Amino acid sequence: MSNDGYWFQAPPVSTRIPLPPAEPVVELVDITIDGRTVQAPKTSTILDVTRSLGIDTPTLCFLENLTPVNVCRICVVELTGARTLVPACSRKIEAGMVIQTDSPRVRLARKMVLEFLGSSVDLSTAPQAQSYIERYDAKPDRYGPRKESARTHDHAEAVDGTKARTTQVPVKIDNDLYVRDYSKCILCYKCVEACGTDAQNTFAIAVAGRGFQSHISTEADVPLPDSACVYCGNCIGVCPTGALMFKSEFDMRAAGTWDESKQTQTDTICSFCGVGCTLTLHVQDNSIVKVTSPLDVEVTHGHLCIKGRFGYQYVQNRDE
Ligand code: SF4
Ligand code: SF4
Ligand code: FES
Repeated sequence: MSNDGYWFQAPPVSTRIPLPPAEPVVELVDITIDGRTVQAPKTSTILDVTRSLGIDTPTLCFLENLTPVNVCRICVVELTGARTLVPACSRKIEAGMVIQTDSPRVRLARKMVLEFLGSSVDLSTAPQAQSYIERYDAKPDRYGPRKESARTHDHAEAVDGTKARTTQVPVKIDNDLYVRDYSKCILCYKCVEACGTDAQNTFAIAVAGRGFQSHISTEADVPLPDSACVYCGNCIGVCPTGALMFKSEFDMRAAGTWDESKQTQTDTICSFCGVGCTLTLHVQDNSIVKVTSPLDVEVTHGHLCIKGRFGYQYVQNRDE
């Protein structure tokens, strides 16, 4: 080592200016949808393309912030050369595909899905499904009147063939935050995905049983407070039918005071920690009645924790 104090020499300055990484090249392919030939990125799904063309393809089990599971089959379209209809929500496009989104076969398939669901599931708090029933002129009643029961475990009852079999089961009210009414469940799996790897990674719920007996359940069907549930409410946030519902909404509906026409929605940032999740406060009669989160905000893509979802009571602890 030198003793002159200048033994260290800085490396020469590079003359090469660093460049940003190249944009990935996404191949465009030609496909024909309803007689229109269009170009779209090869990574797109059929649903991506139909939406970009303004074609309103119905979906029930698909949500932008969840992995497609292809269980409801309401989004099916006709693909020339394919033996079966294909689910638009998950099928990736390929060059030369010829697709029909509103053929008689597609309409019949969607109508049958809706008739099966409408005959067996209580869709009274599922406006999206109801609008599809109207659009496809589905007639759930053709399987006979819904079998009325005192919400016993109807799944297990024998059916005499004169009435439509339903999924009626007693409402589960076992905690102060949310209610589970699986008579309204269409088994779309969204709650299971949100509780699992798509958001919460808690795995408190899964599908149990087989065939018509299939249902969403906690481990060993224990009450929610005894399960692994951490009450993030992300399952409520994705449920398309109201089967999972804030207790506040459930109580107001039971009392006849729930009125969405009187509600406002205001976006704000959660004040509990530094993550900065966007909260949408649903307010009726100057009180917060439930909290959701927009899917298109990058911070959490619509998912929250227990504090953001349910910790709003302090806002309305006002001195009278
Ligand atoms: S509240 Fe959260 S942890 Fe509990 S079941 Fe729903 S998604 Fe899972
Ligand atoms: S409870 Fe809701 S989100 Fe879960 S499977 Fe049923 S309908 Fe889908
Ligand atoms: S929305 Fe595509 S299968 Fe359910």
